[in-house]
Amino acid sequence: MTSTSSALPSTPEAARTFDMFDLPPGYIQAPYPWFRALRDHDPVHRNGDGTVLLTRYADVRTVWRDVSAIVDKNEMFHAKFGDGPLYEHHSTAMLFRDPPDHDRLRAVVTPFFSPGSVERLRPFIENLVEDLLDEAEDRVELDFVDDFAARIPIALITRILGVPPEDGDLLRAMGLTVLLPLNPTVSPETVRAGHEGAAQFIDYLDEHVQRVRAKGVDGDPETVLEALVAAHLDGDRVSIAEVVHMCLLLMNGGHETTTNLMAVGAHSLLDHPDQYCGLGAGTGLGDGAVEELIRFVTPLQLQGRRTTRPADLPSSGVTLPAGTEVILCQASANRDERAFDRPDVLDLGRRPNAHVSFGLGVHVCVGRPLARLETRIVFPRLAARFPGLQRAGDPVWNDNVRFRGLRSLPVRTS
Ligand code: HEM
Repeated sequence: MTSTSSALPSTPEAARTFDMFDLPPGYIQAPYPWFRALRDHDPVHRNGDGTVLLTRYADVRTVWRDVSAIVDKNEMFHAKFGDGPLYEHHSTAMLFRDPPDHDRLRAVVTPFFSPGSVERLRPFIENLVEDLLDEAEDRVELDFVDDFAARIPIALITRILGVPPEDGDLLRAMGLTVLLPLNPTVSPETVRAGHEGAAQFIDYLDEHVQRVRAKGVDGDPETVLEALVAAHLDGDRVSIAEVVHMCLLLMNGGHETTTNLMAVGAHSLLDHPDQYCGLGAGTGLGDGAVEELIRFVTPLQLQGRRTTRPADLPSSGVTLPAGTEVILCQASANRDERAFDRPDVLDLGRRPNAHVSFGLGVHVCVGRPLARLETRIVFPRLAARFPGLQRAGDPVWNDNVRFRGLRSLPVRTS
């Protein structure tokens, strides 16, 4: 994942030679200077493999909102993964399916993520966070990722799906193996591990599907799994493979992004102690501050689309022909000075803040009310309990270009 390019990130030369499939050293730790160079000097950038990388806010929005731009990647995924459970997952889950199949699947799970449904989880989240903060207080030193951030989203998503909470760690590990192969460059070992992880999940869920089928679903389903199985039994609206892969998609969408949001959010707030301390002062975290953390971190950094008709890009003035494979870089769009004042500054008072961290169009993040509620609950409590939170070692970034985040963040609570 490194290239020999020695160009400084701010130069036109750096933008011209940048390649998403041959990343420069230090990219994961600091991608933003590269994005800035691309926005300024080569906003419609061609990668070595022919894909087009868009980095300006208005251009990213235009392709994302274009209903004719499609997500089907079967051909590319088949070439990259070969046959097997990993390919089955990324060609069956709704994230890489276009309407009408996408809409048929999404309609089954949407009710579980409405603001009202999510609000009913508030007491559960508050208790969970308080328990984790108690544990952290006893330990004094902890890894903010493993001991705190990662434990919240997985507890929630197992509950929403209707699988045992004690399986959370196992499921998170399986899920990560399935996500990693979505990165631009992957090794054969990563692909092999992805197949194994997807196969394990399929076996794991089978037992729970059988359990729900045997029990039957009377009345309103209480869990996503019940809703999916009911849809399967009701005229086969959803196949069993679609049930399994929707659960795996929700598991992954639900835990990795939000874990990274909390970890990188805390890491960023430690660089802005005034704003961190203000959070615990009793005013809580307003809507604007939640949005600013989500903009600043952008836990999911890249997305793919293929144009099916010419697309006029408003910011760069280029027209993409039909059939272009596009990489949308929302991490760059969220730092575009054409759309945000002082975009590299974390400013919890920022208004307005039309970030694109949750995407746009038919695939806009289904779990965004949940991610927002988790953020709103976690950060003020963290700051109120540990106003003197500090780093106790160097943070370790993960190697995930799309799901950029921290593998570890050692902290001391006082
Ligand atoms: C801060 C946290 C989160 C971020 C930044 C995020 C980001 C995104 C983005 C950018 C997309 C659009 C993908 C595309 O257009 O191709 C998306 C889709 C999705 N997200 Fe999230 N997400 C977050 C949290 C969650 C949570 C908590 C869940 C579920 C519990 C979730 C489940 C999903 C699902 C299932 C999709 C696919 C939607 C579809 O294809 O219609 N996400 N997310």
